[in-house]
Amino acid sequence: MKDKLESIKKAFQEDLVSCDTAERIEEIRVKYLGRKGAIADITKNLSSVPNEEKSAIGKAVNVLKNKISETLEEKQKAFTSSTKKKDRIDVTFEGIRRNIGSIHPLTITLERINEIFMHLGFRIAEGPEVETEFNNFEALNIPLDHPSRDAFDTFYLGKNMLLRSHTSTVQIRIMKKKKPPIQAIMPGRVYRPDASDAAHSFMFHQVEGLMVDKDIKFSDLKGILNIFAKQMFGEDVKLRFRPSFFPFTEPSAEVDLSCIICGGKGCSVCSGSGWLEILGAGMVNPKVFKKVGYDPEKYSGFAFGMGVERIAMLKYGISDIRLFFENDVRFLKQF
Ligand code: PHE
Repeated sequence: MKDKLESIKKAFQEDLVSCDTAERIEEIRVKYLGRKGAIADITKNLSSVPNEEKSAIGKAVNVLKNKISETLEEKQKAFTSSTKKKDRIDVTFEGIRRNIGSIHPLTITLERINEIFMHLGFRIAEGPEVETEFNNFEALNIPLDHPSRDAFDTFYLGKNMLLRSHTSTVQIRIMKKKKPPIQAIMPGRVYRPDASDAAHSFMFHQVEGLMVDKDIKFSDLKGILNIFAKQMFGEDVKLRFRPSFFPFTEPSAEVDLSCIICGGKGCSVCSGSGWLEILGAGMVNPKVFKKVGYDPEKYSGFAFGMGVERIAMLKYGISDIRLFFENDVRFLKQF
């Protein structure tokens, strides 16, 4: 009997070594203290022990039983407190900060331009970046010998197809599809194989505007662009229209904004002139109307086109166009 008690004690010690999960503690408890466990088994056989030894053996069984029970209880306690520690959330611990993105300055600028014109009744229209030579040049009255038609100034994609060099192509698409009245702006990417520097990029964004109906006049163009300039840059700005030339508008104008840095007095940003060029505009050339099947005697209209990068650079005081496309978060997170 004594030997049996010894071997139970030894087996228990051995089992303790592998006792590292809650399930294992329970398993061991059942094995020794359960109804059919080792202690119950030995208690059952106590009757076969000679009377004079009974009380000593009985005591020894009890001592072992208590010892096993205490040891397991301690194990259980140590185990639960250590898992609790692991699961507990330390609210004073510094967290992992997630980087939150911000809206790209070109998107902010484009959305603001869209919003201003939408309030003035313009719809937004889009067209593909891969265009036909007809939509990019011919329909817009750009002659065959015009320098922009040269492969050097335009990305050609094989015969008659190219990456559009301006969003004026969308004017043609709209007018071919729909009769006047038309009042739309056309934002999008355009491509010109310019070497990139602080002022040039081979890809940039434009917003074209087009309004066609009976009796649209140059004064309508001036009125709309004045409202746009004031909403975009502030009530104090002025616009100046300088005579210019575009094959698809007649008359044409280059439009300048009074310098938003010096207010027109002359500074380094406006090269002392007090004015900043911001867009091209004019009355739609009757030759363009004929190309799309409109009667130039019946309809008139204006068109304008501006560079989104240029507007954003003026608005935010950005001096290098390449910053928009470098994806440097130190630049992007300022907006
Ligand atoms: N398409 C011209 C450009 O890319 C801009 C423009 C548009 C000028 C509409 C007049 C009218 O430079």
